[in-house]
Amino acid sequence: MKIKVISESAKETQKIASFFMQIVLMRYNPKRKGLVISLEGPLGGGKTEFFKGIARFLKIKEKVFSPTFLIMKSFPCKTRFFKTLWYLDCYRIEKPKEIKELDFSGIIKNPQNLIFIEWGNKIKKILPKSHLKIKFKITGEHTRILEFYL
Ligand SMILES: Nc1ncnc2c1ncn2[C@@H]1O[C@H](COP(=O)(O)OP(=O)(O)OP(=O)(O)O)[C@@H](O)[C@H]1O
Ligand SMILES: [Mg+2]
Repeated sequence: MKIKVISESAKETQKIASFFMQIVLMRYNPKRKGLVISLEGPLGGGKTEFFKGIARFLKIKEKVFSPTFLIMKSFPCKTRFFKTLWYLDCYRIEKPKEIKELDFSGIIKNPQNLIFIEWGNKIKKILPKSHLKIKFKITGEHTRILEFYL
């Protein structure tokens, strides 16, 4: 299923993220592994803005910065199913192996992990089949289309 949502500002993208997260938490059937969500689309598409909205909704106090020089970061979170929110940025990744070396398989195996991956398309080969995908498209200075593949 694909759902298209139009965002008319960065703030709106954050609101869409928190709405998305509410639905995920409401409808999620706990599995025996973590939940992986791949954020895909061009530079400036709004992937990090979206993640900021997720972090805000989950009441993460730490500042979520654009992780240009960072590959992976984790934040404790208190939801019914997920205890750790993970944020990976694969922009600088050349081979999925670089991510694998960071115990990626251990992270996605743990059902208490909620994992967002910017530029997840770069490590498509090692993403679990069950992952969700959100594609960001730039349609104007302040407008984006978010396509949710659920
Ligand atoms: N509707 C919108 N949704 C999200 N961001 C928007 C929107 N309109 C304008 N922007 C601006 O676009 C930029 C999006 O930046 P962001 O860091 O979220 O992109 P990104 O997809 O993470 O890019 P990168 O691949 O470089 O990390 C921000 O400067 C934000 O203010
Ligand atoms: Mg980003």
